[in-house]
Amino acid sequence: MVNPQRKRVLSGIQPSGNLTIGNYVGAIRQWVEHQSEFDAYYCVVDLHAITVEHDPKILAEKSREVAGIYIACGLDPAQSTVFVQSHIPAHSELAWLLTCITPLGWLNRMTQFKDKSAKQEANSVSNGLLSYPVLMAADILLYQAQAVPVGDDQRQHLEFTRDLAQRFNHMFGETFTIPEAMIPLAGARIMGLDDPTAKMSKSETAQYHAVYILDDPDTARKKIMRSVTDSGRDIRFSDDPEKAGVNNLLNLYQALTGQSREAIEDHFATARGYGDLKKEVAEIVIETLRPIQARYKELAEDSRNIDELLAQGTMRAAAIATQTLQQARENMGFLPAHS
Ligand code: TYM
Repeated sequence: MVNPQRKRVLSGIQPSGNLTIGNYVGAIRQWVEHQSEFDAYYCVVDLHAITVEHDPKILAEKSREVAGIYIACGLDPAQSTVFVQSHIPAHSELAWLLTCITPLGWLNRMTQFKDKSAKQEANSVSNGLLSYPVLMAADILLYQAQAVPVGDDQRQHLEFTRDLAQRFNHMFGETFTIPEAMIPLAGARIMGLDDPTAKMSKSETAQYHAVYILDDPDTARKKIMRSVTDSGRDIRFSDDPEKAGVNNLLNLYQALTGQSREAIEDHFATARGYGDLKKEVAEIVIETLRPIQARYKELAEDSRNIDELLAQGTMRAAAIATQTLQQARENMGFLPAHS
């Protein structure tokens, strides 16, 4: 039942590639931390994962894996509704309704579209990649979410969602809640370990780019020990592009320990060099991931565990999504279907 005291939130992750420590600190961790305060909906956004080329042989398995990781990270299905986007057709339908009122210029301005399309042959860039933010807006607006806990890279998509909701409400009458982005203070943008000028991304496949949530301890340690830094030895938070590698490791350390910047700089003041910093970051990452991996292993032993949780989540989510879609159709003037 909806408790009006609790803030309604919705967020999601694409089941493409392997989930990274960036996905954890930027998104999942804040979902878990605040779940008792929220009326929360977390989906595996599989319809978004097909906006670039995907492998049909692994899509289903990846969706189940992402849902399993949500639970293993601490989402409690009794408190948070976990579901798969494509199991609720209202997402696609609302996306179409919204597509028809989206100015093309708004889509052409999206930096994620520009970045992702630049990496592909012009002829293979799909309409889906361009329309991606409309589907994301539909995900959020269907649940009348007031807040959307995401990492820093989703700011522009949230602005787009707000603009689109306002446009719809203006054209057809009050229909959607205007959502706000909820971005963590620490860890909102973890950078690549092999290139600290680029965001850590699960779709980047270079071997030493990202620590994955399911990486074993040795692999995680190796990746962090090999991370790109500079030739200095000063361990301080800094905006200097030269120091981006060290700054990134410090950000990760801060996000995982919850300590203040001053305390962290004091702690590393006596370090002998970046090697000491890397070792400590590796340890805190490994210790954070250890219980998550153990829970995941247990859950994944029987795929029915996750599928059953998802089936319950679908029922709860569909009840709200269907109601909002109905209202949007009615406000747009569609002839109601009579059975
Ligand atoms: P996706 O799948 O790229 O990323 C999922 C979440 O992880 C955050 N994140 C990061 N945070 C910190 N550092 C990083 N390096 C990092 N990389 C990713 C993202 O900000 C995000 O919160 N468009 C979304 C998926 C989506 C969605 C939605 C999100 C679809 N519909 C509705 C919220 C609400 C995306 O591509 O996320």
